[in-house]
Amino acid sequence: MPVRLLCIMFLIAASETSMAQEIYREPFRPQVHFSPKAHWMNDPNGLIYFKGNYHLFFQYYPDSTVWGPMHWGHAISTDLLHWKEQPIALFPDSLGYIFSGSAIADSLNTSGFGSNGAIPLIAVFTQHDPAGEQAGTNHFQNQGIAFSLDAGLHWTKYPGNPVLRTPGLKDFRDPKVMWYPPDKKWIMTLAAGDRILFYSSANLKAWNQESEFGAGIGAHGGVWECPDLLPFLVDGKRIWLLIVSINPGGIQGGSGTQYFVGDFDGKKFTPGDTSTRWMDYGADDYAGVTFSNTGKTKIFMGWMSNWKYATKVPTLKWRSTMTIPRILGLKKIGQKYFTTMMPVSLAAISESIKISSQQIHLDGPSRMDFTCSAGNSFSLTFSNDQGQALVFGFDKGKNAFYIDRRKAGRSDFYPSFAAVHYAPRIADSKESAISLILDNTSLEIFADQGLTTMTDIFFPDQPLNDCHIETDSGKAGNLTVTKLKSIWH
Ligand code: FRU
Repeated sequence: MPVRLLCIMFLIAASETSMAQEIYREPFRPQVHFSPKAHWMNDPNGLIYFKGNYHLFFQYYPDSTVWGPMHWGHAISTDLLHWKEQPIALFPDSLGYIFSGSAIADSLNTSGFGSNGAIPLIAVFTQHDPAGEQAGTNHFQNQGIAFSLDAGLHWTKYPGNPVLRTPGLKDFRDPKVMWYPPDKKWIMTLAAGDRILFYSSANLKAWNQESEFGAGIGAHGGVWECPDLLPFLVDGKRIWLLIVSINPGGIQGGSGTQYFVGDFDGKKFTPGDTSTRWMDYGADDYAGVTFSNTGKTKIFMGWMSNWKYATKVPTLKWRSTMTIPRILGLKKIGQKYFTTMMPVSLAAISESIKISSQQIHLDGPSRMDFTCSAGNSFSLTFSNDQGQALVFGFDKGKNAFYIDRRKAGRSDFYPSFAAVHYAPRIADSKESAISLILDNTSLEIFADQGLTTMTDIFFPDQPLNDCHIETDSGKAGNLTVTKLKSIWH
């Protein structure tokens, strides 16, 4: 290759790198969480692992920083931390906007889309017809599919769409599809207003309704959205988890994600009990679902915002961030099963640092791990020189964890943004192990191996890098602080 051409290529690559660094250094830009380069993002969609890559598709409006005609944006990662944004995967068409949905690897080529031995990836999504909605019909949300024969890079919509038409329900969306081996069929879990509908199919094109679940059970302060159904093996017993997002009516108001634990026989979901449980007790973890094709390890990712204020948060060029991907589990406490969520390995971005006192100066995004006696209250205050502060703590009187973001920075964009959020302690052990991830604009808490999790966003004018710890017992045990390197270099 001529030297001049080589030089030009080098200069282009260097200027792209510096542009990327510029973009990801904007005020409020998270450094260890995925956010789109520009424009509006909501729910994670089509989460799938295939041939060494994790695919994150997402609700995306490429023309504005507020919600609009939905596309599927796309990003790829090999470690669930460093994401590379890809061209838009799915565009709106004559059947409507591309709303939320899932993706699966059709290894047996049940769909017949496979050719030359390539395993087809199939995306299943809602097609939302805005004209039908405006005309006041009840027939504007239907399900469509698309396939990819190049491991998720390019997608072709099925000409026979929609594959599942609404029976006349306004809310009929967010299909999550999984393979059900005992019956060799696909199961689609779909949100329909105040309930979940289950459908089955042999080929992903023809769907039959099997059953419904949820009317009158669980939280019903809003519309049910973005479900997920998946099995776990707990102490040798197969237990099914049904995740259901709800908006409004979440635990902290607005958007939240509840779950049910029970049995699924290929047709019907039967809950073990009917108490309402929440995946995350913060205000900012919504529409989360799991990656498909990850074997026994289940990985959950949510949208780190809340419909109450998502379109108003003070980021300038883009809106919204995803949670850190989390390993999802189920644990039995007493007679009940609860979810556990812990961050995926952060080894690829971790730099351990030494701490000499309880007064810590953080060097940007960090992970902290420590233990505390459940009989003592404690608090960690993260602050900056401008008097802005975020507090995370445990209140032994309430037996609850809390995040207080009342003074954590800008909050004038929404009246009740400045608030304290509480989360019950679910574990019954004497010691509580806490892990937390602090990024520029988010705090994620994983208490008691992830039995209680909380996710809150906030918008300080400078990073909240000073950390002060107070405990009844005088000390947090086994404290480690890990500096997290930006994922955007
Ligand atoms: C959840 C949701 C989904 C819908 C999508 C539209 O946040 O309302 O139910 O498919 O967003 O963007």
